[in-house]
Amino acid sequence: MSDAKSAKIQPFAAPKGVPDYVPPASADFHAVRSTFETVIHNSGYGHIELPVFEETALFARGVGESTDVVSKEMYTFSDRGGRSVTLRPEGTAGVMRAVIEHNLDRGQLPVKLTYSGPFFRYERPQAGRYRQLQQVGVEAIGVDDPALDAEVVGLADRCYRAVGLTGYRLELTSLGDDSCRPAYRQTLQDFLFALPLDEETRKRAEINPLRVLDDKRPEVQEMLADAPLMPDHLSPAAREHFETVTGLLDDMGVEYVLNPRLVRGLDYYTKTCFEFVHDGLGAQSGIGGGGRYDGLMAQLGGQDLSGIGFGLGVDRTVLALAAEGVSPTSGRRVDVYGVPMGTAAKRTMAVVIDQLRRAGLSADMSYGDRGLKGAMKGADRAGARFALVLGEQELADGTVVLRDLGSREQREIPVAEVVATVQQALTR
Ligand code: HAM
Repeated sequence: MSDAKSAKIQPFAAPKGVPDYVPPASADFHAVRSTFETVIHNSGYGHIELPVFEETALFARGVGESTDVVSKEMYTFSDRGGRSVTLRPEGTAGVMRAVIEHNLDRGQLPVKLTYSGPFFRYERPQAGRYRQLQQVGVEAIGVDDPALDAEVVGLADRCYRAVGLTGYRLELTSLGDDSCRPAYRQTLQDFLFALPLDEETRKRAEINPLRVLDDKRPEVQEMLADAPLMPDHLSPAAREHFETVTGLLDDMGVEYVLNPRLVRGLDYYTKTCFEFVHDGLGAQSGIGGGGRYDGLMAQLGGQDLSGIGFGLGVDRTVLALAAEGVSPTSGRRVDVYGVPMGTAAKRTMAVVIDQLRRAGLSADMSYGDRGLKGAMKGADRAGARFALVLGEQELADGTVVLRDLGSREQREIPVAEVVATVQQALTR
């Protein structure tokens, strides 16, 4: 054997902080993402497919230079033409860019759009904090109506309910608007500058004082106990907007807690702001969040239109479900799994499986020359509810054995009746 052949080749690993989802666990990931998508489509949101990378300046201007996302976490590089591009760290800025570019804001308002896919942030990896993260999001643009805020918040809540998640809370606040935020910012800065803050925190107070409220250190939190809070400094108009939103959520039966210290990591938020928090996840407890962003479109060169949206973290929702011991799929991937014994049986089985699929059922079968035991293991691994076993005798009789893999009950049925019988059995 040559040296080159005998040298052991090191297998590759996924990049640091980037999760793989492989079967069987990937079934839950897929179920969460597609359930979110279905619930959202049912509320009248049109799909938007965005580029995974954009011009760097879009995020710098849209998300905010002072945010950690922009200043520390972007995957930015020059392409071969020397343009600075960035892998999208979030979806809102890209949606606004596309809405302006394609004049969607010149038609019927609000423009309601939904997207899903990977986003990229160079964060320190830990449980629930990834460098490639998956979100399903919505944006509703062009109408500053508190009823729309309530729809968007209620929709996010419905998404979590639809996958079976229960142990989370919705935190809500108002970040005010142009008529009250600048004055509040000054009041907060005056308060912060009177405190014995370290150099770095002082700098943060200068650039974005609201972020200081989010400081997790107990000694800082102690100093902030009497800090002025935005909800106590809202203008009458902003207060009325927020009270209408909370009133509508009450009417809709959406539970929430007011958190006047809620701070989001992106700069564009105004008025209604919210986060879904799950305590089963440790430090990375935010499973989704969003809010209004009334100045963003104008800031990106478009009309001065309002907007509101959210991003639901698919990865963290999957982790939260696992922490609750709930599986949206119970590991099930196919309804039926075919187990043919021998070449002739395989031929018949391939046709039966094809008929089941055409009828809209999910079905798979064992391939290769596996014995009964090995093939039944395959059925288990596929998470099948039923196995269809076809041996020599059944083949001669024109029948097949339908086995319920949960109860272990089985019966022989005519091949011609497989589709109807399985359809009926699945409804039980
Ligand atoms: P965000 O809060 O930055 O908001 O992200 C939304 C969700 O994405 C988070 O609540 C979290 O579940 C998930 N997420 C964020 N970073 C990570 C990470 N490193 N690893 C795993 N999951 C993560 C936005 O992105 C806004 N664009 C949402 C929005 C839409 N606001 C208005 N419209």
